[in-house]
Amino acid sequence: MCSENKMSGRGVYMATVVVNEKICDEHFLLRLYLAEFPSAAAGQFVQLQCRPPVAQAGAAEVARSEAGLPEFSSPELTDKESLLRRPLSLAGRRVSGDGVELEIIYRVVGTGTGWLAGTRAGQAVSVLGPLGNALPIIPDKPQVALVAGGVGIPPMIYMANALHNAGKSVTAFNGVRSKSLLPLSPGSEPISPEGLPRLCCSQFQSSDASAVVASDDGTVGYHGLVTEPFDAWLDGEAKAAAGLVVYSCGPEPMMRAVGEICIRRGIECYLSLERHMACGMGTCQSCIVKIRDDSPQGWSYKLCCTHGPAFDARDIIW
Ligand SMILES: Cc1cc2nc3c(=O)[nH]c(=O)nc-3n(C[C@H](O)[C@H](O)[C@H](O)COP(=O)(O)OP(=O)(O)OC[C@H]3O[C@@H](n4cnc5c(N)ncnc54)[C@H](O)[C@@H]3O)c2cc1C
Ligand code: FES
Repeated sequence: MCSENKMSGRGVYMATVVVNEKICDEHFLLRLYLAEFPSAAAGQFVQLQCRPPVAQAGAAEVARSEAGLPEFSSPELTDKESLLRRPLSLAGRRVSGDGVELEIIYRVVGTGTGWLAGTRAGQAVSVLGPLGNALPIIPDKPQVALVAGGVGIPPMIYMANALHNAGKSVTAFNGVRSKSLLPLSPGSEPISPEGLPRLCCSQFQSSDASAVVASDDGTVGYHGLVTEPFDAWLDGEAKAAAGLVVYSCGPEPMMRAVGEICIRRGIECYLSLERHMACGMGTCQSCIVKIRDDSPQGWSYKLCCTHGPAFDARDIIW
């Protein structure tokens, strides 16, 4: 039941950093300008080369020690810069002048994102994309809930915008460990500590979407797991399952819980998995997911990067 894979037009494009600004602890908003980039949709991601673009030089001889062992000196082979590209979700895409602007929100966790945090306006960054399938917009479901945690929040900002354009009514549930790690800006309404939907975050307000914020330590919004206000909202609103669809992205235990809540209530639900990825294009097989199907054994391995990252919650074998 995977949605159709939209790989057409993917390629390597050179981008220029327009903005790279810190928005909260460890999180940056990156805006990239590209003279051209294919159309993309919410749920898709890009692979950023997190080091200076490499000049197209011929292959150099690798130096060898007296014992004949290879001695690497280039930074990407000595762990000082990331050799592989890093997958990051699109948080937005808009036409800008003659080109396109891509928006990405990333958390600095290691070598690649650490390098990105140091990039300045005007710097070049190589982008491979757009990759993965898009989150499907379901025509006969007027009501939508987005449930996100941590770095799963950025693709939901893009999705809220797409759903708004499709005329859907959207409520976004956002979970973070602590207030200092919330990559959203408070809007005109205060964030409800009871976990009630408000037009409280400007990134969702611009899509007319109500939002709930929950934090593990209670420093912002509802004190507890984001799945708690989500489950309570489903109870309180007595939503007709038939008219509601849920999308979720974030830590796997959270997505698994969201999937289980939806399956129990008979609500259609799509989970956008963030597996470790090397190539992002279906070559290295590093991102497999067990997905139910009609094969004799009842399941087969799918690739998170090309068949996903979005899968129907009922199909995922955890
Ligand atoms: C489809 C997809 C979309 C993503 N979208 C975003 C996004 O929008 N914003 C964002 O901040 N991050 C996102 N991520 C996660 C991001 O790719 C990783 O945080 C990043 O690759 C880390 O690179 P690094 O070199 O800084 O860290 P590394 O030095 O490679 O690793 C540092 C630490 O991060 C962990 N790590 C690396 N990759 C992942 C991963 N995929 N999932 C969980 N832990 C990981 C490592 O195990 C290690 O503990 C996404 C991942 C996927 C697969
Ligand atoms: S990341 Fe290489 S096959 Fe998915």
